[in-house]
Amino acid sequence: MHDINELLEKKRAAARLGGGERRIAAQHAKGKLTARERLDLLLDEGTFEEWDMFVEHRCTDFGMQEQKIPGDGVVTGYGMINGRLVFVFSQDFTVFGGALSEPHAEKICKVMDQAMKVGAPVIGLNDSGGARIQEGVASLGGYADVFQRNVMASGVIPQISLIMGPCAGGAVYSPAMTDFIFMVRDSSYMFVTGPEVVKTVTHEEVTAEELGGALTHTSKSGVADLAFENDVEALLMLRRFFNYLPLNNRDGVPLRPNGDPPERMDMSLDTLVPENPNKPYDIKELILKTVDDGDFFELQPDHAKNIVIGMARMAGRTVGVVANNPQVLAGCLDIRSSIKAARFVRFCDAFNIPVITFVDVPGFLPGTSQEFGGIIKHGAKLLYAYAECTVPKVTVITRKAYGGAYDVMASKHLRGDVNFAWPNAEIAVMGAKGAVEIIFREDKSDPAKLAAREAEYKARFANPFVAGARGFIDDVIQPHETRKRICRSLAMLKDKKLENPWRKHGNIPL
Ligand code: HXC
Repeated sequence: MHDINELLEKKRAAARLGGGERRIAAQHAKGKLTARERLDLLLDEGTFEEWDMFVEHRCTDFGMQEQKIPGDGVVTGYGMINGRLVFVFSQDFTVFGGALSEPHAEKICKVMDQAMKVGAPVIGLNDSGGARIQEGVASLGGYADVFQRNVMASGVIPQISLIMGPCAGGAVYSPAMTDFIFMVRDSSYMFVTGPEVVKTVTHEEVTAEELGGALTHTSKSGVADLAFENDVEALLMLRRFFNYLPLNNRDGVPLRPNGDPPERMDMSLDTLVPENPNKPYDIKELILKTVDDGDFFELQPDHAKNIVIGMARMAGRTVGVVANNPQVLAGCLDIRSSIKAARFVRFCDAFNIPVITFVDVPGFLPGTSQEFGGIIKHGAKLLYAYAECTVPKVTVITRKAYGGAYDVMASKHLRGDVNFAWPNAEIAVMGAKGAVEIIFREDKSDPAKLAAREAEYKARFANPFVAGARGFIDDVIQPHETRKRICRSLAMLKDKKLENPWRKHGNIPL
């Protein structure tokens, strides 16, 4: 008995030490925490239950039988974040560079399977040199086993990836299939092929940071949702983000009561929208003044800025917020913003999170780059997402709602439950100027006449009452009462039931 306990302690100590003091020091020297230090920060103190600490690889090639480290490069198990269950895996870069072996993959699969069974999210802390090169296809098989589980878990339990080191080659596809990707600035990168291969194939000279660093993926590619300064900030923000999420697709949104009265008014909103319809204003001011305690967790703030997405609470319950941003491209929908918002709306729908949509949209962005890039298909993604969505949908048109974009942005026609407009809303096929230039083309040479036509069109359509007369708008509300009216709508919608017809799955325009 004594011997066994000694052996147990020896194995535990070896597992805790990972790749050894030298490699731990190297990890720290890069400004990175170790796999275990990260879990200590992520999880509530003393809640981590570790599994598979004694797993070892089975590789015998290249002298690998002599190099076995208990745990084999990934720390797995479950714990609590603010008292709520979560499954975790944290790759240990000090052990073979966190490279994924067959047993390493089996450990990840085990926590994913269990998370699915009990209905709890999975958080992956990624820091890995990719496939364990000594293992060959066994490692590739391991990746595919993880991929398969990512897909099965999609829409069942939330999956979050935090990239805290290298993530390259096919390894990127596991995070890519999770719901959210967060990165750490200057120490993490993701790419399918690295700078060397890029140079050989396309003759482009690019650094790892430029190719797949946090800045690239949070601004250019939109692959990642957020970037943080360092491991500590990333893990603490992830804890905050976790509080918004349901545990699974049946659980419903968490309730976190706060002192912000649902009926609170904000008179300053009455002057938010400028008189001149071509002048921008800050849509985030409206979001912050509407949601509980001004607490808005924005996602992808530096990518496709013409649309704003993020999590917030109304009367203590999580909501997803989508808003056109008149400060960027006048709030037009384009390829990137459509994709960004569509994926977010689908996440909310999958996990029963009500969607609040603030609309100020002059239409889809015109131009060859948009058309050649397939705006038809990509714009349709957002339309599809809103139309398919069965969670409570509350929409507020703050100013413009023109053309196809009016339809797309959670309109009544796409089963918006409650659709409000502010008094100065303009709901029409297009702006007055463009409209008269088309329908009164014969008056083009007479500016005075054209101006009169424009004024006439404006008077007729630049208001919410034409839509209101048809019931497309449920009510015209004063800006200052926006929070109150949304909170009441959400309370009314609490037990909403709506099901789409049975089908194997729809065919969203990918
Ligand atoms: C086995 C690996 C490894 C790997 C790193 N190591 N990557 N061992 N398999 N893939 C080991 C190193 O030998 C080293 O061991 C330790 O991890 C740390 O690596 P360093 O190179 O010293 O660290 P660093 O300088 O920080 O560079 C990290 C790195 C580099 C950029 C990740 O190691 C690297 O380029 N690795 C290879 C990456 C790669 O090509 N992976 C396969 C990609 S293809 P010691 O003992 O010295 O500490 C792929 C396919 C997946 O992943 C497909 C899924 C479908």
